Amino acid sequence: MIVTIDGPAGSGKSTVARRLAERLAFRFLDSGALYRCVTFAALERGLSLKDGLGLGRLADGLGIAFGEGNLVLLDGRDVTTEIRTERVTSNVSEVASHAEVREALKGLQRACAVGTDLVCEGRDMGTVIFPQAEVKVYLDASPETRAMRRMTELALSGEEVSLAELVTRMAERDRIDSTRETAPLRRSENQILVDTSGLTIDEVVVRLSNLVPPRS
Ligand code: CDP
Repeated sequence: MIVTIDGPAGSGKSTVARRLAERLAFRFLDSGALYRCVTFAALERGLSLKDGLGLGRLADGLGIAFGEGNLVLLDGRDVTTEIRTERVTSNVSEVASHAEVREALKGLQRACAVGTDLVCEGRDMGTVIFPQAEVKVYLDASPETRAMRRMTELALSGEEVSLAELVTRMAERDRIDSTRETAPLRRSENQILVDTSGLTIDEVVVRLSNLVPPRS
């Protein structure tokens, strides 16, 4: 059984998908972490973010793994915090727009569903990576709600960015993510739309678990 959760930044995907996976005892895949790892490695090596071929090669050669407690390991090194800084966040959409990068990460994502049930979240989980998934969800929320959530998240890690600035940055990321040629963020008609604006995390998790058919 595969459950895909797609949607824009701040729609609540990560938290909700993680909790849903726990509740169902399914494996969890945060596909954004993969694009963040490639971005982090590219920035660290000073590579051009416009060079799709070079970034694709970089992505191909990286050893990305998930450890206990949602740790993200890049060639054995714990980069869980580093990949969530604003520097990585403001560059990741450009990196993720290259077809070569997306192709390089496909195998790794599909391997996560081999022999196990999976909850995965990202931008193209239901449309490109797992089109055969049994349950496909598209999470959304108003731009203000999404920016507020991101602001709270950043404040927890000590980064202060104004709400207005975050609304602008998120709109720019959404624009790049939904207008790129390869695997753009878009809602397909077989995805169930859930607007999380007025809902708590628990309410969304309950709503999503009700969409997953019981095992026979
Ligand atoms: O949590 P948030 O939505 O802010 O970010 P994320 O899920 O970690 O994704 C970061 C970026 O990676 C997105 O803005 C996309 O540019 C890219 N991404 C993608 O292109 N395809 C995916 N399946 C997941 C993420």
